[in-house]
Amino acid sequence: MKRKIMVTGGAGFIGSNFIHYIIQNTDYEVVNVDALTYAGNLENLKNLTDEKKHRFIRCDICDKNSLKEIFDGNEFSGVINFAAESHVDRSILDPSVFIDTNVKGTLNLLQLTMERCAGRFLQISTDEVYGELKTEEEKSFTEDSLIKPNSPYAASKASADMLVLAFNRTFKQDVVITRCSNNYGPYQFPEKLIPLIIYKAMRMEKLPIYGDGKNVRDWIHVNDHARGVLLAFEKGKSGEVYNIGSRNEKTNIELVRLILKILGREESLIEFVKDRPGHDRRYSIDPSKAERELGFKVLNDFDSSLRDTVNWYQSNKEWVDHCITGEYREYFKKNYSPKEAI
Ligand code: NAD
Ligand code: DAU
Repeated sequence: MKRKIMVTGGAGFIGSNFIHYIIQNTDYEVVNVDALTYAGNLENLKNLTDEKKHRFIRCDICDKNSLKEIFDGNEFSGVINFAAESHVDRSILDPSVFIDTNVKGTLNLLQLTMERCAGRFLQISTDEVYGELKTEEEKSFTEDSLIKPNSPYAASKASADMLVLAFNRTFKQDVVITRCSNNYGPYQFPEKLIPLIIYKAMRMEKLPIYGDGKNVRDWIHVNDHARGVLLAFEKGKSGEVYNIGSRNEKTNIELVRLILKILGREESLIEFVKDRPGHDRRYSIDPSKAERELGFKVLNDFDSSLRDTVNWYQSNKEWVDHCITGEYREYFKKNYSPKEAI
């Protein structure tokens, strides 16, 4: 029997890269369930190596009745939940949709996966649930670190994690959680630091750096994350959490200078602006457990992958422009019949 999985949020940055990865490297069929919020872009899924293994269904994970129809119409051997509101700054402006999608949406998926015996439920979580490290001396987050989220986004993701673990303990549901650090790579919406800086620097616009620019993020290429997720889905122990990261910490200012160097732009474009409220100082992920238990290994070298990423945004100006102008929304209307939109 063919293995079919539900991937939610597959039109977003990481979900779409994950779908490219598994369509190319496995025999899974994918049903991609995505609401196409501002962050969902079907242009990310053009040129799949085998279109027949991918089916897109537009559906909000908060809409349980529509989700039920999808579960009833398919025999899934697992569900991987990437769907989320993912931008910290937006969660500061309006937290409510973060609770709807990230908490209530996850609850709907958990319940239906269990009721319909749809196999393993993998929750894509984040290192932000651990809160912040204050200094360079503090040890990296392990899976046993305290859960101490600071932004409304992080709090919503932590709440979802608690629900997922509670379903394992209470109902013996087969669940796994992955917690990854900051991703970079193609198809990232240009509201996030790396694509935003590339976009603005290419246009010689000022580059807004929050606070003193010394906040630290731990960067991993999205393809390494995708491999980690697949390993956790196939080999992870039920009820366990796996950190995914690549031991690659950079201050924001260091990272922005690297991008400027690749682009051949002046550092005078940098502009220090008002800090993000509650801005976490440092993230650092210890992926030892995933390495030991899943055989996880990072394959993408940071310097060359960052260069490739910058090149990708330079060569895909149309994709970036469509994000900025909102034109990517037209793609759905042109390419998908109403049948596929539940
Ligand atoms: P993204 O914002 O690029 O994509 C999110 C996707 O989810 C979009 O396609 C959007 O349309 C969809 N979506 C949003 N609300 C939905 C809803 N109610 N129903 C169905 N679909 C909905 O996010 P991303 O950066 O690709 O992140 C994916 C996941 O990975 C998230 O769960 C995020 O918390 C987690 N994560 C992200 C990073 C990172 O660096 N970006 C790092 C660690 C973990
Ligand atoms: O750590 C994993 C998380 O990484 C994910 O869970 C989130 O979904 C993802 O958005 C990301 O969160 P961050 O807040 O770390 O990412 P962002 O790209 O928004 O910001 C990265 C750093 O850059 C952060 O310290 C804030 C800073 N920044 C960001 C923007 C957008 C700036 O200085 N200027 C900016 O304009």
